[in-house]
Amino acid sequence: MEPLKQNLLKRGDEVVLRVDDAAFEGKTIGRYEGFVVFVEGAVPGDTVRVRILKSKKNYAEAKVVTVEQPSPHRVVPRCRHFGPCGGCKWQHVDYQVQLRFKQQHVVDAFERIGGFTNPNVLPIIGSEEVFFYRNKMEYSFSDKEWVEFLPDASPNFQPETLNSKLFLGLHVPQRYDKVLEITECHLQSGLSNEILNFTRSFARRENLPVYSSDADAGYLRFLVIRESKRTNELMVNLVTYEDRPEILKHFTAGLLAAVPEVTTVVNTINSKKAQIAFGDRERVYAGDGVINERLGNLLFTISASSFFQTNTHQAERLYTVAKSLAALKQTDIVWDLYSGTGSIALFVSDAVRQVIGVESVESAVQDANRNAQANHIENCTFILGDLKDRLTKDREWIASHPRPDVMIIDPPRSGMHPKVVEEILEIAPERIVYLSCNPATQARDVKSLAVRYDVLALQPVDMFPHTYHIENVAKLTLRS
Ligand SMILES: C[S@@+](CC[C@H](N)C(=O)[O-])C[C@H]1O[C@@H](n2cnc3c(N)ncnc32)[C@H](O)[C@@H]1O
Repeated sequence: MEPLKQNLLKRGDEVVLRVDDAAFEGKTIGRYEGFVVFVEGAVPGDTVRVRILKSKKNYAEAKVVTVEQPSPHRVVPRCRHFGPCGGCKWQHVDYQVQLRFKQQHVVDAFERIGGFTNPNVLPIIGSEEVFFYRNKMEYSFSDKEWVEFLPDASPNFQPETLNSKLFLGLHVPQRYDKVLEITECHLQSGLSNEILNFTRSFARRENLPVYSSDADAGYLRFLVIRESKRTNELMVNLVTYEDRPEILKHFTAGLLAAVPEVTTVVNTINSKKAQIAFGDRERVYAGDGVINERLGNLLFTISASSFFQTNTHQAERLYTVAKSLAALKQTDIVWDLYSGTGSIALFVSDAVRQVIGVESVESAVQDANRNAQANHIENCTFILGDLKDRLTKDREWIASHPRPDVMIIDPPRSGMHPKVVEEILEIAPERIVYLSCNPATQARDVKSLAVRYDVLALQPVDMFPHTYHIENVAKLTLRS
């Protein structure tokens, strides 16, 4: 093995290095005199001057100061906020190259964390829409603005140095007190940008106070825009600290005049300190308080508080992949673990005998049952419970439900609890399809399952162009 290079770098040093590869969370890797440096804001293939931010025994972290020799993979970012806004870290990288990095990320996770040799990673499924693909955006109000110039910021980027006490935009990474003012975002739609800018102007004109968690006082908290991609329904949800109907009525009238495409206006009232866009109460000021979205043949009714996959088109492709990898038969019993609002269970229900979903959030289980009913699906049951307890402690529950032929598993980023993995090995369904938004924890869990299962295929799907996020589906079959 090559001996580790000695760290010659100190915090604040500026050095020139070539960046060779993509790393985790949108960072890149370069080497200085053989020593590993993780670089923020570069593209593999760049030669950059960097400033060292952190220096450790085995690696350093740095930020780009100037690009000395640009990578051939660079493209001009479309968005004027690119750079300071952390939303699209890879908008300056050619999309096909982004896909290559994401594919490699899955390979690396399964080789390094999973310990698999030459894992069968199928070619990544890219997104046809690389802009305007999101059906939900959540903007934050703040009385503090984030202003920063980064070398990768688009030449058009002009931070507004307004003498204002109200800003509306996105939090920059790791700064939850300040927002970067956003006047155009290329992830949702032009209408969404119109709503964003109308709302900011309205709030400034009316001199509305922003909620501050330090003072635990104020009014405006979040603006959430949900836009169905299939039915053209458009929800605007203003999340506030207090219930002030006179302001909301005035806002709604102005908004509907400015953006008549809006189909429903909701006010979520959250009088708690926690900075989340959910709340205690919901009031509807226009329309019926929901939007409808299609996935395949299914229609989902989405309220202001419902979870729904944010990229409709790619969610449909992801579920189609999962369904096909599960090789379903009409006689199959399927357990959908971490079933959320039931979208996967409902999507596969027409191909099997029965689906049982297990999910720990009560409102998600309610949404799942409602979605089943609305789509006249009778072979899906959704059960509330923490999987760790359901599968490991609740023998009665296990005994009273039919054993699964197939498990479809879609856990949160942290993956599965080791006890849940153990119990899956005990129950031993013939086929497992494991979806994950975090290949690292997925590779860890699949490594544990591999004591009894063969890993037949891994299929990455890109749900979020211009970000470093990647969804991956693994197909496992029980060894006989
Ligand atoms: C990635 S989401 C799955 C979403 C789901 N496939 C859908 O389409 O709605 C993970 C889900 O796991 C649920 N969850 C997290 N920890 C859990 C646990 N210990 N037991 C059961 N469900 C859990 C979360 O509430 C969330 O709905």
